[in-house]
Amino acid sequence: MKYDFDKLIDRAGTDSVKWDHHQMKGEVEEMIPMSIADMDFKAPDSVIEAITERAGHGIFGYTVVPEGYYSSLSKWLLRRWGWEVRKEWIRPAPGVVPALAFAVQAFTGPGDGVIIQPPVYHPFRAVIADNGRVVVNNPLKYEGGAYSMDLEGLKRVIDGRTKMIIVSSPHNPVGRVWQKAELKGLTDVCLENGIIVISDEIHADLVMPGFTHTPTATLSDEVSMITVTCTSPSKTFNLAELHAANAIIRDHGLYEKFDLALSKAGLKRPNVLGMAALEAAYSKGGEWVDELIRYINGNYLFMKDFFREGLPEVGVSEMEGTYLGWLDFRGLGLPEAAVDERLLLKARVDMTPGRIFGPGGEGFYRMNLACPKKVLGEALGRIRVAFRG
Ligand SMILES: Cc1ncc(COP(=O)(O)O)c(C=O)c1O
Repeated sequence: MKYDFDKLIDRAGTDSVKWDHHQMKGEVEEMIPMSIADMDFKAPDSVIEAITERAGHGIFGYTVVPEGYYSSLSKWLLRRWGWEVRKEWIRPAPGVVPALAFAVQAFTGPGDGVIIQPPVYHPFRAVIADNGRVVVNNPLKYEGGAYSMDLEGLKRVIDGRTKMIIVSSPHNPVGRVWQKAELKGLTDVCLENGIIVISDEIHADLVMPGFTHTPTATLSDEVSMITVTCTSPSKTFNLAELHAANAIIRDHGLYEKFDLALSKAGLKRPNVLGMAALEAAYSKGGEWVDELIRYINGNYLFMKDFFREGLPEVGVSEMEGTYLGWLDFRGLGLPEAAVDERLLLKARVDMTPGRIFGPGGEGFYRMNLACPKKVLGEALGRIRVAFRG
């Protein structure tokens, strides 16, 4: 491997949410945090160099979005997924969650319904409810240890007040990479019912070998006109707090509404270091991502084998994409509070409890696998001792 993902980097003392502010901070020593979705790997050198060079100039005055920002993103989307995106479809936003919130404000009114498919990334629910819209749950189906979208359920939950759906593609936390046919089934229902599709594709670059990401907007011309795609280099290159994200909107009317929602909040351009990082990541980071995927997949296979051999009562969902393992602890037959306690106090491993992701998440835990394999091995060993003694 050309890049060193095995390297242990001490994040303590950097005000990291995961390391310095985990839920048992001050109570439990030597916690291994495997919760919030950022990585314990450094961004690629080319990105660090681009930020350093820009910072070295020392003047951070008002700056337009450079051509290279748009072209690096367009070329990335074309190279990785064969998606041709024009500059005028791209609207920079200060993050994917902010983009989702602006989409809610732009395309729906107070009291309108917005569909989500839990268990799903919990801020989906928050951006809907906090904006005075109604969260319409259409839970994923979980059959034989595999997840799928409930398209019949989707038809049933739509009524005259339902305006929009937010899709996690690939799906955080269950790790599905939605297949073309599944997305077609979903968008057929949306086209029939005038539902706008917000496709959150922040995890799209992190698809494991053997799986292929399909951008929702590439399904057909018709679908591209009802779809708003939210994307960002933040998961892929570990740049979350640089706040560089984009919405890609082909339909001019939808674009204008979205743009207006951001303008109302006074948001014009991304921050200058975020722009430099995004351009470097998308233009120079491909090889790094390819290796990163191999490393994460190695961690996933290691984790899956570990549970199969060492604690088979814990079910491991197929991680087709993302770097988030989705573990079913219900087979242990313990109340959730007891599982929490053993994980946090005995194993000292902080995972995200599945219940925060809404209906269907109870009894599951999400394990962040974007860490050096040595750390993962230590965490798994501790979990085995906590449950096996
Ligand atoms: C599906 C999904 N959307 C959005 C985000 C966060 O996006 P941002 O940090 O750009 O607001 C995450 C982070 O975990 C995520 O999993």
